Amino acid sequence: DWDLGDWVENAVEEIRETVGQDKVICGLSGGVDSSVAAALVSKAIGDRLQCIFVDTGMMRDKEAEEVMESYRAMDLNVIHVDASERFLKALEGVTEPEKKRKVIGELFVRVFEAESSKVSDAKWLLQGTLYPDVIESGHKGKGAAVIKSHHNVGGLPDDMSLKVLEPLRDLFKDEVRALGRIIDVPEDIVSRHPFPGPGLAVRCLGDITVEKLDILRKADRIYLDEIRKAGLYNDIWQAFAVLLPVYTVGVMGDDRTYARVLALRAITSSDGMTAEWFRFPNEVLDRISTRICNEVQGVNRVVYDVTSKPPATVEWE
Ligand code: XMP
Repeated sequence: DWDLGDWVENAVEEIRETVGQDKVICGLSGGVDSSVAAALVSKAIGDRLQCIFVDTGMMRDKEAEEVMESYRAMDLNVIHVDASERFLKALEGVTEPEKKRKVIGELFVRVFEAESSKVSDAKWLLQGTLYPDVIESGHKGKGAAVIKSHHNVGGLPDDMSLKVLEPLRDLFKDEVRALGRIIDVPEDIVSRHPFPGPGLAVRCLGDITVEKLDILRKADRIYLDEIRKAGLYNDIWQAFAVLLPVYTVGVMGDDRTYARVLALRAITSSDGMTAEWFRFPNEVLDRISTRICNEVQGVNRVVYDVTSKPPATVEWE
């Protein structure tokens, strides 16, 4: 059992020694890891940390604004790059999951590089790598099958001549959350569920359109609102809605409807590598389903994913 307060003091000291008078760049994603890493480094070197938040337009409803607000409250030095139009354009007509990931990953790197090259004489790239990430990449030896090409926000190609700073690489997720709390990272960031780099693009199956993203955002907001109201948010590792490219028949009043199917997923996990589907109380699922069908135009059926990982993965794409 070790003391996190001591750990922070040592880490801050070590970061100061390592970085000296250099500047550090950091890609923020709104997630726990990059935010806590940035808070820690900012504690050590203040404004010599330059953060860049690339908004891919694939985040949840109002999430980009909320995240930026939290960063301002944390006094981080952040550039907000709204690249949503570019991402939408690049994804036009792309339906294949790995292709989506590739398109997003590549464009992200381009946008991030362009932005970071404007930060003069930066020497370091800060990454929120955790211990499980270190382990996992160690296992990805030659010939290892690629299940999904994960894109980590902040991940950059090797040819950027920056040295990598990874102050969280010995920590597990729960330790990072505890660390975030003692260095005053806002609770909505500390307790936030993990969110994949490609975001809603891999939760909107088939091609991605503004109309579909809009439906997905509305449904996803209702889902998470009800989870929070039921006091279940912190019992769940991740919960999200997936918009299926499927239409089914329904009935509304006296009329036949023919509309989309929305799938709900919620899991428990300790690192995302394996997961169990979450057992909701029936009445919570009932409320969610009723609200989504009533409030989200274009959806007339809601299904719940009862598959663990393995055999399924957490995300549907
Ligand atoms: P899968 O779907 O592979 O997801 O079972 C495992 C965990 O990783 C998250 N995930 C990602 N995270 N970039 C990320 O940073 C990605 O491209 C990505 N894809 C999946 C997923 O949400 C789950 O927590």
